[in-house]
Amino acid sequence: MHRHERHHDHRSGQTLAELRDALTAGFWDERYGGSDRVWSGRPNQRLVEQVADLEPGTALDVACGEGADAVWLAKQGWRVTAVDVSQVALAKVAAHADEQGVGDRLRIGFYDALADPRPAGRRTFDLVTVSFLHVPVPDFAAIYRGIAEAVAPGGRLLVTAHHPDDVATGARHDHGPGLMFEPDRVLETLGVDRPGEADGKDGTWEVEVADTPVREQESADGPLVVRDTVVRLRRR
Ligand SMILES: C[S@@+](CC[C@H](N)C(=O)[O-])C[C@H]1O[C@@H](n2cnc3c(N)ncnc32)[C@H](O)[C@@H]1O
Repeated sequence: MHRHERHHDHRSGQTLAELRDALTAGFWDERYGGSDRVWSGRPNQRLVEQVADLEPGTALDVACGEGADAVWLAKQGWRVTAVDVSQVALAKVAAHADEQGVGDRLRIGFYDALADPRPAGRRTFDLVTVSFLHVPVPDFAAIYRGIAEAVAPGGRLLVTAHHPDDVATGARHDHGPGLMFEPDRVLETLGVDRPGEADGKDGTWEVEVADTPVREQESADGPLVVRDTVVRLRRR
């Protein structure tokens, strides 16, 4: 990993090193330490939608943040491992799980995607979910392939992200060049064809969802329409 390269991007003015700084424990510990709750505390809508038709089993929530998704999954009967680079966030996850009475079904673990992209070593899970982990383009393939390795045979990978259209519509400020992505980025990275394409029925992954749905989000200026990238793959 070339942590100190300084590729300059003229569009946003952010170097690769600066983009990677936003993926460090220091950055996120400060963010999570500065406030009681950074995110809403509610599970992500896309996770709730996509898990509705799955039988609970083992789940890995990658870059879990404050753990609303992980705690929600545990309450649905999943045995959850929640990993993140921020120990401050992980401590909140453990506390939330205990408060909600699911501490026995949820484990926390440290994961630094830049140091080792595999979130759980050789362990595999029935569901691996990763929501809003936006990484620099040069790091994307290694990190998302590492995350995908944690899916057990017959298990699912669920990727949810902000869609780049949100910058064009003004719904969201640009996080940095190429950080938000479309479903195709995930499919291409994992060597998956879209459903209906010639090779779509072969290979490691079956595409169950590759979609870009919109939803309404509250903002200081009223409701805002935002678009998500949602990819759900099943490992054969
Ligand atoms: C936008 S938040 C999303 C949190 C959560 N998934 C959610 O949907 O609420 C991004 C998360 O990625 C984590 N993260 C950032 N850099 C990371 C890294 N290098 N390795 C693992 N997690 C990282 C942050 O600590 C943060 O919790």
